Amino acid sequence: MVTAPTTNRRLIKWVEEMTRLCKPERVHWCDGSQEEYDRLCQLMVDGGTFTPLNPAKRPKCFLARSHASDVARVEDRTYICSRSKDDAGPTNNWTDPDEIKRILMASYDGCMRGRTMYVIPFSMGPYSSPIAKIGVEITDSPYVVVNMRIMTRMGQGALDALGDRDFVPCLHSVGAPLAPGQKDAPWPCEPDPAKKYIVHFPEERMIWSYGSGYGGNALLGKKCLSLRIASVIARAEGWMAEHMVILALTSPAGKTYYVCAAFPSACGKTNLAMMQPSLPGWKVRCIGDDIAWIRLGEDGRLYAMNPETGFFGVAPGTSNESNPNALKTIERNTIFTNVGLTPDGDVWWEDMGVPPPLRQIDWEGKEWTPDCGRKAAHPNARFTTPAAQCPVIDPDWENPAGVPISAFLFGGRRPSVIPLVNEAFNWEHGVFMGSAAGSETTTAALGKAGVLRRDPFAMLPFCGYHMGDYLTHWLSMAGRTDRAKLPKVFFVNWFRKGPDGKWLWPGYGENARVLKWICERVDGAGKFRQTPIGNLPTPDALDLSGLKMNAADLEQLLAVDTEGWKREAADIEDYYALFGSRLPQALRAELEGLRRRLG
Ligand code: GTP
Ligand code: SPV
Ligand code: MN
Repeated sequence: MVTAPTTNRRLIKWVEEMTRLCKPERVHWCDGSQEEYDRLCQLMVDGGTFTPLNPAKRPKCFLARSHASDVARVEDRTYICSRSKDDAGPTNNWTDPDEIKRILMASYDGCMRGRTMYVIPFSMGPYSSPIAKIGVEITDSPYVVVNMRIMTRMGQGALDALGDRDFVPCLHSVGAPLAPGQKDAPWPCEPDPAKKYIVHFPEERMIWSYGSGYGGNALLGKKCLSLRIASVIARAEGWMAEHMVILALTSPAGKTYYVCAAFPSACGKTNLAMMQPSLPGWKVRCIGDDIAWIRLGEDGRLYAMNPETGFFGVAPGTSNESNPNALKTIERNTIFTNVGLTPDGDVWWEDMGVPPPLRQIDWEGKEWTPDCGRKAAHPNARFTTPAAQCPVIDPDWENPAGVPISAFLFGGRRPSVIPLVNEAFNWEHGVFMGSAAGSETTTAALGKAGVLRRDPFAMLPFCGYHMGDYLTHWLSMAGRTDRAKLPKVFFVNWFRKGPDGKWLWPGYGENARVLKWICERVDGAGKFRQTPIGNLPTPDALDLSGLKMNAADLEQLLAVDTEGWKREAADIEDYYALFGSRLPQALRAELEGLRRRLG
């Protein structure tokens, strides 16, 4: 047994118990130093997990290729194990906590044989933030350790901040014990999907993850702690843990507005968070690209803080066109997972904006040529990169108090009906908009409406308790402060399509034009018309200077499709039925109000 670099009795006891259970060959307490990071990277190079990239092209960067069965979050293996099933609600998987513990105790027994058990103390949020939370992840994956060092404040600093207080225990194993003399795999994991478990115990505030080494399944500070467990803590403590980007927008006059935006996964949060505005004089600064922790400040305003310190962003589609600032961020000190490897030791992925090399090694380690018919990068290939390296990181991104929010945005991929931007009449109407968020895919059949997955507040896979109670919690914020101090709420939709299937709105940097109108509305200016669905900009209200935009397209983007909205209201009603008696009355009233106004 190594001596623990802490006096925290509960932590020492837990680590001892887990050591007895998992039976690792050795235990290593992570100090979070650069030396430790470098040593673990070298260990993974020697073991075949990491390929160092060409230092002349990508200094201090590595490529990892995961097992083909372990490439993304596994929502069907993710559980909220509250004591009562009803508290997990209709949108979460649930099993009895005692039963799942019996199953998992058997899996964890001896699961780290032949491996090192790493103890990772980490803080979500700057140490001095009033809502920062300390977790400790126990893992047998050095890949997790180095990723956690980029994504969180990790090591001795977190241990010192913890002192003798309580922490969130996060147990993780890839589920691949080694027999004596057995050679390790480059990406050890449990290949059988039915044996993977991502389990949350909301009352105990504890996380158990088994079998996967990828992303949100394994970097337990991210979705598991900062959203699922934090949403439970936040509700009890009167704050909010949200799947949102935080950005600062500065006008040519020098006024800064802080905006939080919730879009479902793969709907453009990372792009928006560090966008390069096309409007001259406007500046965007990034505070966070995935998660926002939001609390009431003493002045009665809502303040947002990014609990993370890195970006775990989707690589495919990241180009100079779509996200130049992300490309600059990942020039060095970055871990790439499941992208292509070019002959000169650099990375490549689909829609990177550069032609593919004539040959390369794809994400599965196979030879790849442009005509081979396969993708070089997995569609969920990701980069792990330090936020501090982002060229437009905001000077306040580590401010423990957070930044005061002027506007909330909700959105998703909605090819029809939903306009480009729509302002809520008030807080309740805004919560109604967030509750009805979702993302739609079009079907091949002509004229047929798309398949829509409702994803309230983009939190469907991330809410740690009953979604109906979550909606009540959002509504309750209006009773905790002066309503006039609450952020204004907007619904945006960059993904509206014309009859030819093409985007009606150019998107990306041009979204600054929509943000400009939103800032004007925050200031009580900006031209708008009141409609049955909300306040919409008049066609001349948006600054379209220098943009070639067809008047008919613009009209469609800003129109109210009454018949489409009647279908939308009926669909929301069907969805709301899921929440039964836990659906807040105020949202039912909002739905009825919408129907009445539509006529
Ligand atoms: P997670 O990291 O999974 O939470 O996802 P995310 O919300 O950060 O989204 P991601 O960056 O993975 O999604 C980007 C996708 O949205 C890419 O396919 C982009 O091409 C597309 N996208 C982003 N912004 C825009 C836009 O303004 N217009 C259009 N049409 N597409 C966009
Ligand atoms: C998401 O899926 O919303 C992500 C990626 O941000 S992961 O961290 O794997 O959940
Ligand atoms: Mn996300």
